[in-house]
Amino acid sequence: MRIDRRQLLLTGAFAGLSGLLPASLRLAKAAEGVMELTAGPGKHVLYRKDSPPSDLWLYNGTSPGPEIRIKRGVPTRIRLVNRLDEPTSVHWHGIRIANAMDGVSGLTQEAVPKGGTFDYEVLAPDAGTFWYHAHNKSWNQVGRGLYGPLIVEEDEPAFDAAHDLTLVIDDWRLNRDGTLNDDGFRSMMDWSHAGRLGNWITVNGLTNPVYPLKAGEAYRLRLVNAANSRIFELDPKPLDSTILAYDGQPLPEPAALGGDPLLLGPAQRIDLLCVPKAEGTISLREISADPPFEFARFEVSGGSGSLAQAPRLVPNALSEPRLEGAKAVRLNMTGGAMGGASEIVYRGRRLEGRDFFETGQVWAFNGVANMADEPLFRVRKGETVRLETVNNTAFAHAMHVHGHHFRILERSGSTIDERRPWRDTFLIGSEQTTTVAFVADNPGKWLLHCHMLEHAAAGMTTWFEVT
Ligand code: C2O
Ligand code: CU
Repeated sequence: MRIDRRQLLLTGAFAGLSGLLPASLRLAKAAEGVMELTAGPGKHVLYRKDSPPSDLWLYNGTSPGPEIRIKRGVPTRIRLVNRLDEPTSVHWHGIRIANAMDGVSGLTQEAVPKGGTFDYEVLAPDAGTFWYHAHNKSWNQVGRGLYGPLIVEEDEPAFDAAHDLTLVIDDWRLNRDGTLNDDGFRSMMDWSHAGRLGNWITVNGLTNPVYPLKAGEAYRLRLVNAANSRIFELDPKPLDSTILAYDGQPLPEPAALGGDPLLLGPAQRIDLLCVPKAEGTISLREISADPPFEFARFEVSGGSGSLAQAPRLVPNALSEPRLEGAKAVRLNMTGGAMGGASEIVYRGRRLEGRDFFETGQVWAFNGVANMADEPLFRVRKGETVRLETVNNTAFAHAMHVHGHHFRILERSGSTIDERRPWRDTFLIGSEQTTTVAFVADNPGKWLLHCHMLEHAAAGMTTWFEVT
């Protein structure tokens, strides 16, 4: 799979400006047992330490927002407080949550107005690595910083806090002075091509942070892609790692990384098991840039070196799809730049000429842009859905199903080894077909969209209903 090889702002990160990481910020419970998550404007330095701050939108004053840690199966109240100038909502990405708590403005709730609050009850059936983000005009709200990590802890955590690291990766489009480039958010050029791609990469909001590790000890690295549209292509070689989990769902056995770039599409997560063998530096780098762009580093010093056995993760319990009698759904992706002429119906009307520009709708699922009145399909609770997605566009996409995890059954024309894992977001290259299946066991109205947030806004959003 190719991604846009847009030149990053600087060729590689600079040495000497990064400091050791502060302990990650965790969200504490207020007295009444409710966590509070306040969305509001704030300042954040994105580039060099001495760069001017950018005006971002933050949760509790930071981007990423605080790391929320909850226990599997234990309901947690989280109160969203909206101090933005526009309505917002929070989506708990990848959690197989009750529909009313899914946080999708306009489908599962009304967006919370300026000054308003909304109490979410987050009950997570699966332990793993998830994230939360704004779900109203996400291309703008997430793009300005409204997201954070959501960790669902195992009943008996497999790794202690010192060996459990969360790395939320984002790319930003910066001006020459290192501040957020503000004007391009609604660029039709981006919306109709590969989405808004940045020119600078941060981890947990920091430029090239350094993590101290000990040789011979086992670390869980939770990688989260919070970028609007960038598919990260990570260099697997320095990492000394195996894959523990995709999208919050542990593999039955840790899987080898292999020599191909480790692809992390928008919204996807990968948990790595990293056991550094010797002292030295491990560099986390994006290799679509030329030369590669290092955006985080692990400094390995001598450790006890006596690892008996690496901790293991226990897979979550998901219902296995039953393919005989499954409901077959076909999704044809069309539109976008270089996509050839395609018919697009938006709000019941066929678009032509200037309509595309005026509505901003340039992509379609089965010929329809953005949220038809009728769902793409309806199923009864417990039925298996076999979803075949055909990408008839010139771009790669990252398709996300709300409220469910699916198994990837087949993919054509791809060299990506997906190991048939459970996922909540799959990558699909241009002219490829991917088939996934899941048991529709979560009643409600669920979104199905490309997680390249500009594509989602420009037509690649639909929904289905489990009755
Ligand atoms: Cu991260 Cu609609 O999703
Ligand atoms: Cu897309």
